[in-house]
Amino acid sequence: FVNQLGDDGVPVDQLLASPLHASPVSSLPLPPLLYGPARRNSEGVDLTVTTMRAPLLAALATTSVPVVPLFDASRAEPAVAQALRALPAWRGTPVAQRAARLRHAADALQAELPRFCALLVKEAFKTWGDAVAEVREAVDFLRYYADEAERIMQPVALPGPTGESNELRLVARGPWVCISPWNFPLAIFMGQVAAALATGNTVLAKPAEQTPGVALEAVKLLHAVGVPADALQLLHGPGETVGAALVAAPGVAGVVFTGSTQVAKIIHRALAAKDGPIVPLIAETGGINAMVVDSSALPEQVVDAVVQSAFRSAGQRCSALRLLCVHEGIADGVIEMLGGAVAELAGGDPALLATDVGPLIDAEAFDTVARAVDALAAHGRPIDASPVAVPATTHSANFIAPQAFEVPSIEHVRNEIFGPVLQIVRWSGDPATVVERINALGYGLTFGIQTRIDSRAMAMAAQAHIGNVYVNRNTIGAVVGVQPFGGEGLSGTGPKAGGPHYLYRFCAEQTLTINT
Ligand code: NAD
Ligand code: ALA
Repeated sequence: FVNQLGDDGVPVDQLLASPLHASPVSSLPLPPLLYGPARRNSEGVDLTVTTMRAPLLAALATTSVPVVPLFDASRAEPAVAQALRALPAWRGTPVAQRAARLRHAADALQAELPRFCALLVKEAFKTWGDAVAEVREAVDFLRYYADEAERIMQPVALPGPTGESNELRLVARGPWVCISPWNFPLAIFMGQVAAALATGNTVLAKPAEQTPGVALEAVKLLHAVGVPADALQLLHGPGETVGAALVAAPGVAGVVFTGSTQVAKIIHRALAAKDGPIVPLIAETGGINAMVVDSSALPEQVVDAVVQSAFRSAGQRCSALRLLCVHEGIADGVIEMLGGAVAELAGGDPALLATDVGPLIDAEAFDTVARAVDALAAHGRPIDASPVAVPATTHSANFIAPQAFEVPSIEHVRNEIFGPVLQIVRWSGDPATVVERINALGYGLTFGIQTRIDSRAMAMAAQAHIGNVYVNRNTIGAVVGVQPFGGEGLSGTGPKAGGPHYLYRFCAEQTLTINT
């Protein structure tokens, strides 16, 4: 082995004999998923992006971001009333037909991958690699929820006494308000909407203010494959007015929200204050995601996983790594290597194929992250890394260079910094204490473990109050149907998106007993 076990070590014969991760996608009985770990060449360049270079660049030249009319918050109640009127027809459409329309949408989206990528680059400043992965994830959500709805919405016959038949069935709840963030303006938007529609609900979709154009094109695509216009309405506008008015409107049967913990709590309170039925909320929120590295870990593997997890998508992923806890026995080496890897990243204009790290979404995000960096600089120690190369183009506005700071303790990390900023803590002694302190932060979205000690990985995973645990790899890019995604505690209510339990929450259950 390259490195030695440190004082946290367990005898070498307990080291992993084989990798924990088998290839996930190949064993699935479901239709092939498009999304997954990027295939890269020996220089780390995403092969899909290089092989699709010509159509992607052609789409960039011909695609423009549509202007989306602002919705007037005072029309929220009539919009919900319209969704209620549309409900009987959509709920009454056989699940196979609803699923077929979603599969047509998946095919159409797959065929239009370059155009949607160009939209994501232009409106959300995604790099090409991220844009391709996001379109594929949206396609996967459509196909997965189509299959899942058909699977779970068949009535289940239950045993009963002679002369009586019993069955349990799932039925749509009614109009759902789907509120989505800008950081996955296609995949999360489409995932929420597809889940609600597949189960026979009608939808009022409220995209993030920053990315309504992607949402409009997604809705147009769904309407084109036969989802009725009044079963899926797009309502673009500020969250505080349009989002809040939709949540408060009478007749709403459920809210699915992805975004910040703070706004999830505002919505939770607003729903609790409403007259009438108790309205379910699915909230998928942020995280202070940690990775614990012990002294048996492979530094090269750790650094690759950290760079991907902390800096891909400019750190603007809920799953992104925020806190690296590295055993002091290997900390110097890992930090030095990390500095070298960060210096290799190309930053700036997302429209350039070579860009690894694009800009932040807008000036407000830039100011927030810049303030957090200033505060970190006051009590943290920046790791050595050469400045990241930034070509001077108009799209490099709001760019913040990937950077990392050593901080004194886990407890110094109090808030999610939604950008390419990593905090590093050294540890020694019992890893269980480290996990306990991470649990105490209260978030529970993603968690990375880097160790070659199998029993330790399993013990730490079992101890963590965290939804998605990744061993000896990066902590981002959960694959639909393969790594169901979602957190606990301050990170969300569950159920997991892209998992087999997700659609149940969009349904009511009915038991039908017939005296025969
Ligand atoms: P945000 O909470 O500011 O906004 C999310 C959505 O909520 C937007 O559409 C916004 O308009 C709307 N909104 C804002 N105030 C509202 C209100 N009072 N009532 C109703 N709707 C309101 O989040 P953001 O900045 O768009 O996204 C970044 C956050 O999302 C980060 O915290 C990130 O971790 C989280 N996120 C979580 C997941 C996940 O799956 N767990 C995925 C992506 C992003
Ligand atoms: N599902 C996204 C990821 O895993 C947020 O990175």
